[in-house]
Amino acid sequence: MSYPNVRPRRLRRSPAVRRLVGETRLAPADLVLPMFVKEGITEPRPIASMPGVVQHSRESLRKAAAEAVHAGIGGIMLFGVPTRKDETGSGGVDPDGILNAAIRDVVAEVGDGTVVMSDLCLDEFTSHGHCGLLAPDGTVDNDATLVAYAEMGIAQAAAGAHMVGPSGMMDGQVGAVRRALDAAGHTDTAILAYAVKYASSFYGPFRDAMESSLDGDRRTYQQDPANLRESLREVRLDVAEGADLVMVKPALPYLDVVAAVRDEVDVPVAAYQISGEFAMVEAAAANGWIDRDQAVLETLTSIRRAGAQVILTYWAVEAARMLRGRY
Ligand code: PBG
Repeated sequence: MSYPNVRPRRLRRSPAVRRLVGETRLAPADLVLPMFVKEGITEPRPIASMPGVVQHSRESLRKAAAEAVHAGIGGIMLFGVPTRKDETGSGGVDPDGILNAAIRDVVAEVGDGTVVMSDLCLDEFTSHGHCGLLAPDGTVDNDATLVAYAEMGIAQAAAGAHMVGPSGMMDGQVGAVRRALDAAGHTDTAILAYAVKYASSFYGPFRDAMESSLDGDRRTYQQDPANLRESLREVRLDVAEGADLVMVKPALPYLDVVAAVRDEVDVPVAAYQISGEFAMVEAAAANGWIDRDQAVLETLTSIRRAGAQVILTYWAVEAARMLRGRY
């Protein structure tokens, strides 16, 4: 017979006890800040659907990157917005394209002070807004796209990226990028694979940030939100192809997927708290409907608890400041 006076609340009675028994710790080093840089602007520009987030100029990006490093965050993920987009997304491969130029700027500014990552995808650079090259019938051509990704990967590594993030959900993208990097001598450049990426409605604000011209959707290459086993297959394939880390995206609506992926593989697992997840909290907070700072830390703690070791979040710097001296 059990002793009757069992009271779990004893472990909740003071901040000190709660701190002692907390199962999940969140540290600035777990957080990665996605940053946008736009070609040809001299002042940062706000993004209406992402309050507090901007499209940086090259100059303001350098400054903000240095501040992010000072705040102690684990990494920076760079996205470029070119002035000219074309059918083949040639700006992504061009060594002087905005993203590659920004990688060089940031690496020159912060050196090895944090992990500099770059998004490896064509959607930022294509006039049609798809993540790959189009076949004559208008469908996204998987294998032709792999050739472009391989070239982009080499350009990003040559610009100094420590880690590249193939995010287009083409089959074989991790293997194609790994082979190309190795053949070009970039054997130390790591791959953060967007292994599990759902066709989500929560990307909306990001597409504003990118000035995306996408007409339609990405359902022929991004995953169906209904599926979990398919995600495990995707991560196994990516690890076999050489992924150094695997990422799940979005994060909060897919915590079950984060947990299952954590159990499935041994490589570090990342999760991307995407633009729409950010915007929902900001919008509710702006209306006075929730406590913003608490909501921010609660979402990040939940993603961490589900099994993500690394979290990409637009609140990275702010959260890092809130976490200072916490434990
Ligand atoms: C694709 C890419 C996307 C995001 C990151 N990389 C968008 C998409 O697939 O449409 C979304 C990030 C966010 O919503 O915050 N290059």
